[in-house]
Amino acid sequence: MADSEIKRHINSPRGDLIQHGGYSPAKQEQYSQYLKKLRQDFVESWDDKSESNAKLNDFERQKVLGTGAFGIVFLVKHIVTGKYYAMKMLEKEKIVRLKQIEHSYYEKKILCGLNFPFVVYMKYYFKDNVYLYYVLPFIAGGEMFSHLRKMGKFEETSAKFYGAQVILALEYLHACELVYRDLKPENILIDRTGYIKITDFGFCKLIRGRTWTLCGTPEYLAPEIILSKGYGMSVDWWSLGVLLFEMSAGHPPFFASDPMRIYEKIVAGKYRCPSHFSVELKDIIGHVLQVDTTRRYGTLKDGVLDFKNHKWFREIDWDSILNSRIHPPFFPKIRSPGDTTNFDVFDEEKIKDSPVCLYEEEFADF
Ligand SMILES: Nc1ncnc2c1ncn2[C@@H]1O[C@H](COP(=O)(O)OP(=O)(O)O)[C@@H](O)[C@H]1O
Ligand SMILES: [Mg+2]
Repeated sequence: MADSEIKRHINSPRGDLIQHGGYSPAKQEQYSQYLKKLRQDFVESWDDKSESNAKLNDFERQKVLGTGAFGIVFLVKHIVTGKYYAMKMLEKEKIVRLKQIEHSYYEKKILCGLNFPFVVYMKYYFKDNVYLYYVLPFIAGGEMFSHLRKMGKFEETSAKFYGAQVILALEYLHACELVYRDLKPENILIDRTGYIKITDFGFCKLIRGRTWTLCGTPEYLAPEIILSKGYGMSVDWWSLGVLLFEMSAGHPPFFASDPMRIYEKIVAGKYRCPSHFSVELKDIIGHVLQVDTTRRYGTLKDGVLDFKNHKWFREIDWDSILNSRIHPPFFPKIRSPGDTTNFDVFDEEKIKDSPVCLYEEEFADF
């Protein structure tokens, strides 16, 4: 596998305590210890004041992989090693105009410290007069979004396979005191092994206690965000519920052409499951799409165990998922290492230039 990048591959704790047909509290306690270690690594990276480790000329720019509000993501080839990466270019001027300086600073710090099988991480970063550059391993299978739209909907066994990885990823992020805040199929990439990598840490934030910022994507916003309440990790569990629904139905539970109508539906917490949903799927979604955060799965006293032991996940062996030992529902077609056919086609983007360094002070710490 081209991913010798998986220097970051981690070994899960030994599976001695696993009980068949469930994930015991003792096993969970052991896993929590392991997550604590990962959190320490994350905190160490956070405190580390490292300098940028590449420059634009080290890369050959190829195709546009995606565009967003603040930047463009390019497929690039690292000239010396010949390896392919996804380079996210964030335009400083736009970041300042849209008041996202803090978010893009967090994105950088967080990407640098991440180390988990189902999330991306930062390989190189640097800045120039106009842009910030975040260079990540290129995940060639494309967005879950494209595969989902192409297939219409996923079989429940596939939704379970991806959902389990998302749960482990959120559990890891929350253990690092990170709230992710932008879970949706567009930000979930499928790698060549058929497993997922969550990308886009543009709204991710280190929080102790609560935060108030309104951000995310309308269909995936939790009611407490819409209602301007202080919120915490509960918002990610809500969006997991939306994701489980969307993967299995082919459309999200709360939708309308007008975002205000979407918000009304979300805060009312009313949605209808398609008749093909299994009883277990309806049940687990019902426990997650709880407007009342004190009743929402993920935030209850047993935390993530409520998912790990839910009937819908009965056949999931969580350790095997973590170690990529389960056969995936499908392998994306990847013809060569720099193959972009799993991504949409975008127009060439104009790259800006400037003889002077723009917003030097604002981005001094980047
Ligand atoms: N590591 C990556 N490998 C391949 N494609 C990526 C990668 N990171 C991002 N992309 C593509 O670029 C798109 C935009 O990147 P993202 O970080 O989500 O930016 P935005 O904040 O603008 O949404 C993604 O939805 C995905 O299609
Ligand atoms: Mg995105």
